[in-house]
Amino acid sequence: MIFGRVKPLDAILATAEKKSLHRSLGAFQLTMLGIGAVIGTGIFVLTAEAAQKAGPGMMLSFVIAGFVCAVAALCYAEMAAMVPVSGSAYTYSYAVMGELVAWMVGWALILEYAVAAGAVSVGWSGYVVGLLEHTFSMDIPDLLTRGPFDGGMVNLPAMLIAALVTWLLVIGTKESATVNAVLVAIKVSALTLFIVLSVPVMNMDGFTPFAPLGFSGISAAAASIFFAYVGFDAVSTAAEETKNPQRNMPIGLIGSLAICTVFYMLVAAGVIGTVGAQPVYGPGGEALAPGSTALSQQCAALAAAGTEAVTCSKEALAWTLREIGWPQIGNLLGLAAGLALPSVILMMMFGQTRIFFVMSRDGLLPAMFSKVHPTYRTPHVITILTGIFVALFAAFFPVGILADISNSGTLFAFAAVSIAVMVLRKTDANRVRPFRTPAIMVTAPIAILGCLYLFWSLGVETKLMFVGWAAVGLVVYFAYSRSRSHVGRGILDTHEDDAGIPPLPVPPLPGAHTPGGQDA
Ligand code: ALA
Repeated sequence: MIFGRVKPLDAILATAEKKSLHRSLGAFQLTMLGIGAVIGTGIFVLTAEAAQKAGPGMMLSFVIAGFVCAVAALCYAEMAAMVPVSGSAYTYSYAVMGELVAWMVGWALILEYAVAAGAVSVGWSGYVVGLLEHTFSMDIPDLLTRGPFDGGMVNLPAMLIAALVTWLLVIGTKESATVNAVLVAIKVSALTLFIVLSVPVMNMDGFTPFAPLGFSGISAAAASIFFAYVGFDAVSTAAEETKNPQRNMPIGLIGSLAICTVFYMLVAAGVIGTVGAQPVYGPGGEALAPGSTALSQQCAALAAAGTEAVTCSKEALAWTLREIGWPQIGNLLGLAAGLALPSVILMMMFGQTRIFFVMSRDGLLPAMFSKVHPTYRTPHVITILTGIFVALFAAFFPVGILADISNSGTLFAFAAVSIAVMVLRKTDANRVRPFRTPAIMVTAPIAILGCLYLFWSLGVETKLMFVGWAAVGLVVYFAYSRSRSHVGRGILDTHEDDAGIPPLPVPPLPGAHTPGGQDA
């Protein structure tokens, strides 16, 4: 029963075959697409959380998380090139491991996308509040800019940005290729400026002790910092628009991940070597968890005593620049984050509405979810519902907790896709594969083990949250979805095209075609 109700791959592909996408993307464009989708809150904000967990050893955490992403990405790309339809990991699982696994993957993707959108909203809030305070000498009370775990009551700016992005999505805003290119340039320039100003003035003393909380601290930081790499699946899902995918896909995936890893390590080195990145300890010398009330109390005590630490900052990179004598550039970096992060929220929420849409079209979620607005042609009901949840997550939870919860869902989905790729090599060996994962029987098991290792390295509360969420998912499936499933009722939906589905969470590139067949 567990692996029952497989949705035939040919029925899924009947949707895809109707589309004739132009193969226009080369290795360079794919790499840029990856960098644009990946850089966000992870590096701008979570660097402080990683430092609190691992100290300077966070540099190793960036390498570990980047490596796991790279192997998972290679598996993801084979599926994405072979089954180029909406719904990504959910759809692949439906075709290979059946409805129940697909449902659980789709359910986990809610964590990946909606909770991640909340995390990025909180990250945005930290930078914008810091920018306002430093530029206009405003004193905005913590009570209104931080959630209850973080020494405040409600994070109003994070709620507001989530609401604004929801509104943009309802009215059908898409990021144009030009806006995307500008935002990528802003993000990359901001990080480059940070590296140029901080790395040359590094002091090697900052690197000792390198791993104050041992290898378990480095693993825990890797599990959190994994968030900084999420988004590379945007490259995999562009497989059908790629020229010579067998050559260009691995270059695009590994290239963008490698470039981001180098950027991230240099940024981390810049922080460690200038302001130090040792964790803040409690009064009894105990390590304090990022995002905890105890840490925020200890940070407040330090601030009152006139000392500050990067691990206490909500805008780690801007704070570091101000500390090393570049206050105006620090503000400029805050402005860059303030401008660029909303596009990451937009992509995440796009992704979420898209998954809900496909699950609803399969009968597993209420049909109302795939209702399209008569004027704006967007799935407004599900967009608004998603927006409400994202705003609530953003209002009340700290960024690190949201990022960790999002990672748990993403790791589950990546592991499922890696398994699906291996299974399909056995059960459907002759199917045409535009891209084949190199050394699949080595790469996929490493990806699965890597995902398990990172999942295991998440905090106990996060793992429990994930198990609780999965349990609720099972209840919803058996109480509601199973009896309404189209596949279960023998209805095999094929759709002329994906018209009506919000576009891929991939910013269109010049000359690229979006999956509705319209040119970007
Ligand atoms: N990788 C994206 C970020 O760091 C999700 O914001």
